[in-house]
Amino acid sequence: MLSKFRGFSRLAQQGTRCASSKQVYAKEEKYVAHNYHPLPVALSRGEGVYVWDVEGRKYLDYLSGYSANNFGHCHPRIVDTLKTQAGTLHHTSRAFYSDVLGEYAEKLTKLFGYDRMLPMNTGVEADDTACKLARKWGYTKKGIAENSAQIIFCSENFWGRSLAAISASTDPLSFENYGPFMPGFSCVPYNNLQALDKALQDATVCAFMVEPIQGEAGIIIPDEGYLKGVRKLCNKHNVLWIADEIQTGLGRTGMRIACDYEAVKPDILVLGKALGGGVYPVSACLANDEVMLVMEPGTHGSTFGGNPLGSKVAMAALDVLEEEKLAENAQKLGAMFRRELNNAIDKKIAIEVRGKGLMNAVVINRNYAEAWDVCLKLKDNGLIAKHTHEDTIRFSPPLIINEQQMKQSIDIIVKTIAEFSK
Ligand SMILES: Cc1ncc(COP(=O)(O)O)c(C=O)c1O
Repeated sequence: MLSKFRGFSRLAQQGTRCASSKQVYAKEEKYVAHNYHPLPVALSRGEGVYVWDVEGRKYLDYLSGYSANNFGHCHPRIVDTLKTQAGTLHHTSRAFYSDVLGEYAEKLTKLFGYDRMLPMNTGVEADDTACKLARKWGYTKKGIAENSAQIIFCSENFWGRSLAAISASTDPLSFENYGPFMPGFSCVPYNNLQALDKALQDATVCAFMVEPIQGEAGIIIPDEGYLKGVRKLCNKHNVLWIADEIQTGLGRTGMRIACDYEAVKPDILVLGKALGGGVYPVSACLANDEVMLVMEPGTHGSTFGGNPLGSKVAMAALDVLEEEKLAENAQKLGAMFRRELNNAIDKKIAIEVRGKGLMNAVVINRNYAEAWDVCLKLKDNGLIAKHTHEDTIRFSPPLIINEQQMKQSIDIIVKTIAEFSK
């Protein structure tokens, strides 16, 4: 009886394999929470900038797993590192030392010029950690009265889906019906130094957190000089500047981090997504001693943060970023993307092409089409991308993309947009 039960349970756990795209959609629809609305494409394999669906159709990947796959799918060096470390030592917790974390931390901090790093897993955890660091610094260094520290964010910010992150959100889709919210968070308009100057005058403000380019808001690029201005204002008001480079970092915008464009250094730099090479969740906060050392043993942590597997993968990802000069490639091919699209695309339908490096957006004239419908047609033509708003499509391919693949992508986008003029 027992063995029969065991056999049954094993079979039930296995589930049944899906042979067609329709079966894949149906199974997700039936068994997975409906908190996403995926494009109808059922992927089963990836290599470099390409992915294939279960029927074997090939697509250029222009989402890159929300910019986690900067190194493309199944980069051999990253996959080998993952496999080797998984068979050596994958997880210890930070209750013990491992022979990988210190080496990884040294590499990461030296590359970005900070004293220390704090390892986490997902982006939202690292941003939350940055907020905790800032609050603690506010109480212990700035002298803010207990439980009254404020953090300023920007309207249209996006830093994840936790209760803290949605408490800072101005998007009703993110926060509605999830209250009550975290106190001590407020927003100023993005790209507005005057409003920031005013907000930072409040002596209870410990930090300002901002994305150097707003990603989920639709690739919103601030004026040149904005980041320099942020740096100046944070210095002036003794407020920590937290740069959320989870999406913009690691070559995506054509520099190692987007703050490099203005040669400014945030007090806390937050990295995630591509830091895990697209194969494992790895995120981190970087800061100098006067900020990072406000946290003492037992005051913050994470079961998986800094584990040997993720740490080793992150080291491989950083090596690939540097050795394959991916920031440089992003800068060059991003410029080609915008230049050639601007020359060839039907401007009645695609009213704006904007971006930096390989973090780009095309704005669709809704008199002709919804961004979602354009994404469906792009998919039919062999390129998968996702809209960020009803009228905006984000185009963020892996940074390993070459000129010929970029040319192919531009042809598909131009041809697809032209189909909406009929
Ligand atoms: C700028 C930024 N910060 C934070 C996050 C949250 O990262 P994660 O989904 O890994 O928690 C995102 C995710 O898109 C992001 O774009």
